[in-house]
Amino acid sequence: ETDFVKYKVKDIALAEWGRKEIGLAEAEMPGLMALRAEFGAAKPLAGARIAGCLHMTIQTAVLIETLIELGAEVTWSSCNIFSTQDHAAAAIAAAGVSVYAWKGMNAEEFDWCIEQTLYFGEDRKPLNMILDDGGDLTNMVLDLFPELVSEIRGLSEETTTGVHRLYERVKNGTLLMPAINVNDSVTKSKFDNKYGCRESLVDAIRRATDVMMAGKVAVVCGYGDVGKGSADSLRSSGVRVIVTEIDPICALQAAMEGFEVKKLDTAVKEADILVTATGNCNIVREKHFRALKDKAIVCNIGHFDNEIDMAWLNSAYGDSKIEIKPQVDKYTIDGNDVIVLAEGRLVNLGCATGHPSFVMSNSFTNQTLAQLELWTNGSAYENKVYTLPKHLDEKVARLHLAKIGVELEVLDQEQADYIGVPVQGPFKSDAYRY
Ligand code: NAI
Repeated sequence: ETDFVKYKVKDIALAEWGRKEIGLAEAEMPGLMALRAEFGAAKPLAGARIAGCLHMTIQTAVLIETLIELGAEVTWSSCNIFSTQDHAAAAIAAAGVSVYAWKGMNAEEFDWCIEQTLYFGEDRKPLNMILDDGGDLTNMVLDLFPELVSEIRGLSEETTTGVHRLYERVKNGTLLMPAINVNDSVTKSKFDNKYGCRESLVDAIRRATDVMMAGKVAVVCGYGDVGKGSADSLRSSGVRVIVTEIDPICALQAAMEGFEVKKLDTAVKEADILVTATGNCNIVREKHFRALKDKAIVCNIGHFDNEIDMAWLNSAYGDSKIEIKPQVDKYTIDGNDVIVLAEGRLVNLGCATGHPSFVMSNSFTNQTLAQLELWTNGSAYENKVYTLPKHLDEKVARLHLAKIGVELEVLDQEQADYIGVPVQGPFKSDAYRY
């Protein structure tokens, strides 16, 4: 248990600016606003003390204030050292939330921030819910603070990499509470990971480098949901895209979309821009760095920085490193310059502002529904990983239709019977892949 620090942000004076942007974001986050309207009066999260560890952005501020509106107490840290938007953190701190997040912290401060979120307020009440993105908070609680586990009703996890860690824990018998995998709601991974990256990848590269995109060659490693959005983002900007994959299905998908699919060893020589999107480690290594063209740009949009072998780069060529501006560094390898963005950490949050509000509303509506379910019905779940039922996935999508002018057909009974679904849905079997 640590001494109470109410909050720690870069500059509380940024709160007013943050509040204005939160107002704009709310208008783009109809799912969260609908949950406030539906559950705000009943306060179903009353008594919940949710510790959250998720990029402290403007969109996340709207999530936090939704959880509070539903009755929860909330503490917050960011799940990446570069992803905090300082005006968002300031606005949330000014609203009375214990938030510990600023852009550009070091690894030690990162752990300190997460640790502050475990106990609430002056009376130091422990957390009883976890909302995580990538599993760092979950790991801290389960591995370092096991005495806190018995109070916790469950956890919800935002991203592919965090979910992967949870399934590992199930296998090893070390998941000690029920978990909801938010990532694999269709309205999360098939939207945030894909359409989010389609907007935020090129945005990040442009903000960082101002390089002309059209006419360049980019290599995207990994053609899962994030890779699909990333490749599309680049192609839309006139970039010629080469994809690398290990999975024959995803490789075939990429080829059918018209992308070249090559081994990285082959493609790296052509790359003006090299992006990792695999959620795997050791994708870009020494031999690739040595094969790159002069002034090639290297970045990662996966959750952790180990997709790029930054350890090798910093040990072998750290002396040549020149900071062009924060989160943009130039290294020189055998006479060739390499531009590395966000020190190999996820580039769309390190060099830009992450995904737009509208797509994050889909993700965070799933998060809120997961927290509601675990808090109000947690005893129904075992210490396993669950996804939200399809009717809730469909509900999340439904809440986002009106904002963008979508009209939906309605089945009549004969049609519903013919395809064997209820008139109100769910409309697909669990095996359907969208
Ligand atoms: P995914 O599992 O759908 O896709 C990853 C793909 O990489 C798979 O198709 C896999 O076959 C491929 N892959 C694995 N090893 C490879 C290798 N050595 N070479 C080439 N391809 C390889 O996962 P998803 O959802 O696309 O997520 C990827 C990463 O991005 C995860 O770390 C996830 O947490 C993160 N993420 C980041 C977001 C952001 O805004 N920056 C948003 C959502 C997820």
